[in-house]
Amino acid sequence: MKNGHIWKDTDGNAIQAHGGCIIEHNGKYYWYGENKGADNCPGTSRVDVIGVSCYSSDDLVNWKYEGLALKADKDDPKSPIHPSKVAERPKVIYNEKNNNFVMWLHLDDASYTFGGVGTAVSESPAGPFRLIAARQPNRQDSRDMTIFKDTDGTAYLLHSKDWNKTMNIARLNEDYTDVDGMYVSVMQDQEREAPAVCMHDGMYYMVTSGCTGWSPNSALYAESKYIMGKWKLIDNPCEGKNSRRTFNGQSTYIFEVNGKKYLMLDHWVREDLKTSGYSILPIEFRDGIMTIPWQDEWNGAK
Ligand code: DGJ
Repeated sequence: MKNGHIWKDTDGNAIQAHGGCIIEHNGKYYWYGENKGADNCPGTSRVDVIGVSCYSSDDLVNWKYEGLALKADKDDPKSPIHPSKVAERPKVIYNEKNNNFVMWLHLDDASYTFGGVGTAVSESPAGPFRLIAARQPNRQDSRDMTIFKDTDGTAYLLHSKDWNKTMNIARLNEDYTDVDGMYVSVMQDQEREAPAVCMHDGMYYMVTSGCTGWSPNSALYAESKYIMGKWKLIDNPCEGKNSRRTFNGQSTYIFEVNGKKYLMLDHWVREDLKTSGYSILPIEFRDGIMTIPWQDEWNGAK
């Protein structure tokens, strides 16, 4: 699969899973993301909400479409997932305690003024997920976001807040269905979004982008010894051609296979979002320094 391009599923259709994440469950991989498989609304850089796609794979290369894990609610114009709204960056985690899957996603109105998150649950990985809440976490605005599950099973919502000025790290309850009230604000006034998090050799790493809409900019990574500790901005981890523009992409998620970490990127095509491409790049840690070299192809986790 050529990094930076739109990828095809096993039926030969363009994979619609933007702003997504990949998780592993019982030896299978699941890729969730925004289904933008329609034309942009005329004169805008938005596509009506269709829902969150789910794809499954045994090898991270051949992806079978499993359908919409969370569907837009076409019938109720007041629904937070009505087609006229915005539903972005879905992230799914498995909850051991309840043996279910919990999805978090950025929910907004078309002008991005609501700034909230949605939570949905399902008993099976491919859905159907039921939306159980749409609100502002800890009564703070929330736009780009991710979910990170720590080694002890505690999960966190990381979200840009204060109109993207600052990043919040908010602990979730044991069901992963809500924040539990404990949060910290980090990288204050740094204006970062598109957070993607991992833990390596006892250090937490967070890759973010700058805030330039759909246009690429320099990625920056931060590190901290504690997830809710003091995060320090370190450097642009990208290496190679177009590294100052995140290879013309934007971070969305870090997943792990056999201890190795991989960064997922979106390559947005603002004027025709359904044609936006993807990349998956292996992350290297050289003496604790996070480095993400460009690779032309993604051939699975080797
Ligand atoms: C940048 C974000 O990272 C995307 O998810 C999307 O919200 C665009 N901004 C909208 O301009």
